[in-house]
Amino acid sequence: MSQTDDSTSDEQGTMPLTESVAIVTGASSGIGAATATALAAEGATVVLAARRVDKLEALADRIETDGGDALVVQTDVTDEDDIDSLVQTVTDEYERIDILVNNAGVMLLEPLERADRSNFRQMVEVNLIGLMNLTHAVVPIMREQGEGHVVNVSSVAGRMTNAFSSGYNATKFGVNGFTDAVRKEVSADGVRTTIIEPGAVDTELPTHIPDDQVLEQFSEMDLPTLEADDIARAITYATTQPQHVDINEMLIRPTGQTSL
Ligand SMILES: NC(=O)c1ccc[n+]([C@@H]2O[C@H](COP(=O)([O-])OP(=O)(O)OC[C@H]3O[C@@H](n4cnc5c(N)ncnc54)[C@H](OP(=O)(O)O)[C@@H]3O)[C@@H](O)[C@H]2O)c1
Repeated sequence: MSQTDDSTSDEQGTMPLTESVAIVTGASSGIGAATATALAAEGATVVLAARRVDKLEALADRIETDGGDALVVQTDVTDEDDIDSLVQTVTDEYERIDILVNNAGVMLLEPLERADRSNFRQMVEVNLIGLMNLTHAVVPIMREQGEGHVVNVSSVAGRMTNAFSSGYNATKFGVNGFTDAVRKEVSADGVRTTIIEPGAVDTELPTHIPDDQVLEQFSEMDLPTLEADDIARAITYATTQPQHVDINEMLIRPTGQTSL
């Protein structure tokens, strides 16, 4: 849907997403699943991308039962062919892409000297290169449309470092730098960019921490946490603003989080 005409905003000044097409990566769990659900509830057709296709199909069923529209495209964001095929599938089916939520991510925290180099590589390929490549594939379509919105899920770890987080920090600082530089290239053509920086959110993300001691410390910290829905609401807020409003960055901590 064209969002150029801000006069279609509702009483709260927000824009409906009816007829918008939104791709959400990492939609099989956590923040991605919550975001896809929230955008569908606002009327967007959501394209669910991740590797675990059974979880994507179950989510698509739930969205459709609630009256929404969803398309499942199994995607490994580290695979360039998968990225191109995702974008081709969406443009063949809907002829437009209004919102891209680059949310897929892994957090493989380890002390530097015990770190497995393959974990560095995986974090960089999923959290950063996958996000860069998908943005690269989608921006020309949005520019041609004269509008579009790229939402990149970073982290509080994109702004502040922590011990045992060097690789993860490197990827999320990278996401912030990449996104803000892209903003300077595309904003004049109507394409908006938002960096989302959650603090601790209750999802399966930390369960993949490979280092037993770091995992134990993480569990013992007993941090206050946000729910995935809290981040989905922030993304919905950013993407339903009128076209002339470009929310570039949102840092969202659970109340009481002081460690980062
Ligand atoms: N939870 C937090 O405290 C927190 C805080 C700040 C930022 N974040 C960020 O929020 C984002 C979502 O994380 P989450 O907390 O919702 O964790 P999550 O539940 O573990 O979700 C991660 C998602 O990334 C997907 N993914 C991983 N590797 C992938 C690949 N190669 N290709 C495609 N998808 C891939 C996973 O799907 P498949 O395994 O099915 O592929 C999954 O859907 C991440 O970028 C994370 O860094 C989370």
